[in-house]
Amino acid sequence: MYGFNISIFGCQMNVYDADRIRTALTARGWEEVSEEDADVVILVTCSIRDKAEQKVWSDIGRLASRREPPLIAVVGCMAQRVGTLLMRRFPSVRLVCGPRSLGRLPDALEKAMTTGKDIALLDEDPVTLQDLTEVPLLRSNPWKAFITIAHGCDNFCTYCIVPHVRGRFISRDPDEILSEAESLVSDGVREITLIGQNVNTYGRDFGNGYVFSSLLRDVARIKGLKRIRYATSHPRDLTRDVVEVMSEHENICPAINLPIQSGSDRVLRLMNRGYTVEQYCSIIDMIRSVLPGAAVTSDLIVGFPGETPEDFNGSVRVVEDLRFDLVHTAAFSPREGTPAARMEAQVEADEKQRRLRVINSIQSVISREINQGLVGETFTVLADGSAPKGEGLLQGRTPTDKVVIFPGDLSMMGSFVDIRITAAGNWHLFGEPVSPLPV
Ligand code: SAM
Ligand code: SF4
Ligand code: F3S
Repeated sequence: MYGFNISIFGCQMNVYDADRIRTALTARGWEEVSEEDADVVILVTCSIRDKAEQKVWSDIGRLASRREPPLIAVVGCMAQRVGTLLMRRFPSVRLVCGPRSLGRLPDALEKAMTTGKDIALLDEDPVTLQDLTEVPLLRSNPWKAFITIAHGCDNFCTYCIVPHVRGRFISRDPDEILSEAESLVSDGVREITLIGQNVNTYGRDFGNGYVFSSLLRDVARIKGLKRIRYATSHPRDLTRDVVEVMSEHENICPAINLPIQSGSDRVLRLMNRGYTVEQYCSIIDMIRSVLPGAAVTSDLIVGFPGETPEDFNGSVRVVEDLRFDLVHTAAFSPREGTPAARMEAQVEADEKQRRLRVINSIQSVISREINQGLVGETFTVLADGSAPKGEGLLQGRTPTDKVVIFPGDLSMMGSFVDIRITAAGNWHLFGEPVSPLPV
């Protein structure tokens, strides 16, 4: 059979998709090998910003320029957006597959290898879904897993490509999700993250009252599942019942990502976000009153078309006032086909970068202050990887989703360890194990 290699770009949905592709191909007798030895290189791609696509183009260029290039399969959001142009520009790209056609990918890869034909599996309409049914048993991380609970997005924020490439919102059947979660726990998974572009509207399409908080409660009751996280919440749709369920179940981590995107009501309207800054702040108050100690992170775009210095100051103010644990910031990147790409008063690239630097430097001080306040406290951390730098160091995350680096050996991987925090930086905590917990 064939040797394959997978590279993942973009968000957690792609990690989940890649884990299922790996599981499906391995079940057919394919073998995961290094990129150098692979007959087929699968790129699971992202289109969220231009930079995400540039990385893929440059990877394709690098692979295609080999003396004997592998078969390149471009899968996911960028495959759907760019389509067969990928094949025309690089003949080594022999297969493209959109995110709603993944169920057809394994057969198509075999066909492309045996027949030598090029294959395009582009999602013809935004509703039909031909998904992989494999439970992702061969994961990038043995102890942590993602489960997509809903496909697509119907929000159409004016800057965002996701609804155009991932199609319409469809909630997955709860029984399917629960049985997948149980299989993962039996396979040794300690932590599951439920993912969707707007998890808070989960179940609305069922029309039977089974909503996101119902699913969260059912997942929390799965025996042996130690940690549950979820992402992403939408400020217009996050309701109190969700936060209450979080407060009732110890295995649901007290961490919420609630993207604000801008601190200006005018820009929020242009973005089609469906809330005001005041409404956003009252949700934060609700979270902090129902679940004190919860970590709240956010996403924010600077340089949206027409963002004035005053609008930008609104974003600065909100970041200063709300004191998020972390903010994922990005300079607005025009995505062809989205309304914002055609809006007037696009902000100059230099100015976007300047605004990004301003907001990042404010947030890094806040993050460091919050982190330094944790020195001396002890957290239970799931040891799940080697630290990127430094020998004999492991890393894991606190229930509040903060990265902790601590000394340890590989035998500790996959266990929960009590770590006392000894130092803090902007984005990491450093600590020492107190004692391993029973697992
Ligand atoms: N569904 C989530 C939400 O509503 O925020 C996440 C969407 S997206 C996968 C992740 C982040 O990318 C967004 O929160 C947004 O900040 C950023 N993003 C999306 N489109 C962008 C664009 N055109 N330019 C810059 N950043 C963008
Ligand atoms: Fe994009 Fe908005 Fe949907 Fe998030 S909610 S994926 S930002 S359209
Ligand atoms: Fe990127 Fe698609 Fe995720 S555009 S961020 S991989 S949904």
